[in-house]
Amino acid sequence: MQRPESNSDKVRAIGILTSGGDCPGLNAVIRAIGKTVQREGVEVFGFLEGFTGLVENRYVRLYDEDLSGLLTQGGTILRTSRNKPHKMPMADGGGNRDMTGAAVESYKRLGLDCLVCLGGGGTQKSAYHLMKEGGLNVVTVPKTIDNDVYGTDTCFGFDTGMTIAAEAMDRLHTTASSHHRVMVVDVMGHNSGWLALASGVAAGADVILIPEIPYKLEVITESLLDRMRHGKYFSIVAVAEGAISKEDANGSGDKAKAKAKKKKKAASSGSHVPVSQQLADHIEEVTGLETRVTTLGHLQRGGVPTPTDRVLCTEFGVRAAELVLEKKFGNMVALQGTKMVPMPLEEVAGNKSLVPLDHPLVTAARAVQTCLGDEWRPL
Ligand code: F6P
Repeated sequence: MQRPESNSDKVRAIGILTSGGDCPGLNAVIRAIGKTVQREGVEVFGFLEGFTGLVENRYVRLYDEDLSGLLTQGGTILRTSRNKPHKMPMADGGGNRDMTGAAVESYKRLGLDCLVCLGGGGTQKSAYHLMKEGGLNVVTVPKTIDNDVYGTDTCFGFDTGMTIAAEAMDRLHTTASSHHRVMVVDVMGHNSGWLALASGVAAGADVILIPEIPYKLEVITESLLDRMRHGKYFSIVAVAEGAISKEDANGSGDKAKAKAKKKKKAASSGSHVPVSQQLADHIEEVTGLETRVTTLGHLQRGGVPTPTDRVLCTEFGVRAAELVLEKKFGNMVALQGTKMVPMPLEEVAGNKSLVPLDHPLVTAARAVQTCLGDEWRPL
């Protein structure tokens, strides 16, 4: 049964969902939003498994007691999925269907005044779609260890992912130096290099490869050999999963597209060799240095958020709740400098934040003689 529409000016009920890959801090944001709006008498509903729960009308009511103990808890109590409301996979295997209408119905059935979506770039796009095509009031919060959501300086989850990756590299340092090996570390980040760059700088990686700076193989091998010549008998190479060679980056449009298609097919059949492994094979063959690969994978998204992320999540959540209460819908909460500001979703949706080539972290990495794969000045 549909709840009667309210004539009141006040927000009465909101829905929250978490969508896309999970990451530490989702629960901390749910807690901050819930606690802030409940003080104003607002009812809170949590849709399960992202937009799937919204479309299928699967939700839980979140009471005050459900919001306790969440600050440090990893994952998401609402669970998540990568499904989009306008491209929902059908259970009968009948492909994807536009289920925007069903999503709108669930929202109306509960008499919601706003839907708060926590997620990365894909989630921002889906939320914008629901606003434009479904007429829903939405507010969003930027989540992802990749740190690539447009319009915000930082996404929650990034600091935790970065810390995990840096600590892993610290541990690889000791074994690398004991064995005089090259340790290649595969870092997540999708098509952006924030995670590899920041964790690599934090751990003092000797080579850092990110998608924004295409690499030359001979530059990498030369920098490693140069370290050897100077008595540095081991090296750490941090490789973003999306790192790309200059050759591939320069490939003609059609050639590059065909290659990307082939890579996607190989990935789904399990026969794709990650760039980190290809690089390790090449390094060993050309330099003769014993080389090992460590893929950090989903470890980077697991466990408790760092204290920095917990602070950020609390600020993000409280600001999102304030936007809801002030009825400033259609916005993502963005961190710009030290301020949490509303950023129009239409500017966010479909855009991406990549590492600018003149970013201070790029400049700093080069200054401390980290090879970024494009050029190398002998020591
Ligand atoms: O967006 C976060 C992320 O962890 C990326 O860094 C990575 O490419 C992707 O998700 C992995 O996705 P999945 O968890 O679906 O394998």
